Amino acid sequence: MAFSRIELRNFRCFDALTIDISSKSNLFFGKNGCGKTSILESIYVASCGRSFRTSNLESLIKKGSNSFKIKAYDDNTGSILEVKKSKSKAISIKINNSLVTTSELARTFPSFSIDSKTFFYNDNAPDYRRKHLDRGLFIASTDYAKDWFGYFRGLKQRNAALKIGDISQARAYDETLINHGTKLNYLRESLVLEVKKIYFDFVKILEQHNSRAQLFSEIDIHLKSGFNDELGLKESFIKSESADLKRKSTTLGPHKADIIFESKDLLIKDIFSRGEQKMLSILWSLSQNIYLEKFFKLSPILLLDDLSSELDAEMLNCFLPIIKYIDNRFIFSNIVDSFNSKIDLNEQSFKKFHVEQLT
Ligand SMILES: Nc1ncnc2c1ncn2[C@@H]1O[C@H](COP(=O)(O)OP(=O)(O)OP(=O)(O)O)[C@@H](O)[C@H]1O
Ligand SMILES: [Mg+2]
Repeated sequence: MAFSRIELRNFRCFDALTIDISSKSNLFFGKNGCGKTSILESIYVASCGRSFRTSNLESLIKKGSNSFKIKAYDDNTGSILEVKKSKSKAISIKINNSLVTTSELARTFPSFSIDSKTFFYNDNAPDYRRKHLDRGLFIASTDYAKDWFGYFRGLKQRNAALKIGDISQARAYDETLINHGTKLNYLRESLVLEVKKIYFDFVKILEQHNSRAQLFSEIDIHLKSGFNDELGLKESFIKSESADLKRKSTTLGPHKADIIFESKDLLIKDIFSRGEQKMLSILWSLSQNIYLEKFFKLSPILLLDDLSSELDAEMLNCFLPIIKYIDNRFIFSNIVDSFNSKIDLNEQSFKKFHVEQLT
């Protein structure tokens, strides 16, 4: 499902705001502080009950008010979503008047955000990239979610046994970890393989418009499973027992996985400029969204805050043709409307909102 109309009440700087979004691309533009990030944030909150900016949801309530409310409508199904947060109360989420959990919400209205943290995807710690990948699969596949919980429950117990130096107790969890872990690794590998294909297709489009895009095609992307692939998970656990006992925790396994981006054996984070890193993160996230739609029949919203920050005019122009190929709901913000007459976009599928004029 996907939203077509969003109504905000006492959310951040907005008293009341109604927005009808396009099912394809939507640009929110306007000067600093006009509320662009807040609009994207409201859509993210409405799709997972969390903010990409803060863990303190109270800061989203308009100063001087006691609660915020977000109402969203899905024209295709007629579903109505209501998210409410009052001061010192937990967030309440209802779909068609029935309370739902945040994970039910995320599965019904999936969204992914590319924000200031995601811009430098490669600069983040491995667990950031792992979470990014896991979140997509978690929402898309209930089997993946079950294996994920099964694996991490087993891991917790194995680590508790290692903490007291009881190796036979720790070994008792190996089978659970191998069962669930093998499936997690398989789905992660399939994701990386398929997302890579979509990514390189995007890069080809970019290359047609700008030779600088060649840089993005010279990248090697692969999943680091977190264990020895040749030995497999079972043998890896056996081999790492003494290290595990010494460290008092499970040193190998899918919980140590990462996605590696390299160019000629050098890590992208060590060589790419900030603009290049940001562009790469955008292309990778877009590709992951398309994969989730294609393989899991999910219709995720992609939110991208501040498109042009860190990107020079040429790099920005390089991205414009890509927008035409995005069939998912794509919602992005920019200080200025750099899209006038620069690209032949179908009016129906591309909506622009001047945020200063919305209130
Ligand atoms: N709880 C709140 N109550 C009232 N105003 C708030 C609240 N939280 C944030 N603001 C204000 O809302 C305004 C919009 O913030 P927002 O971050 O959405 O702006 P923006 O358009 O993304 O700006 P920029 O271009 O600088 O990123 C800011 O002036 C901010 O100070
Ligand atoms: Mg902003």
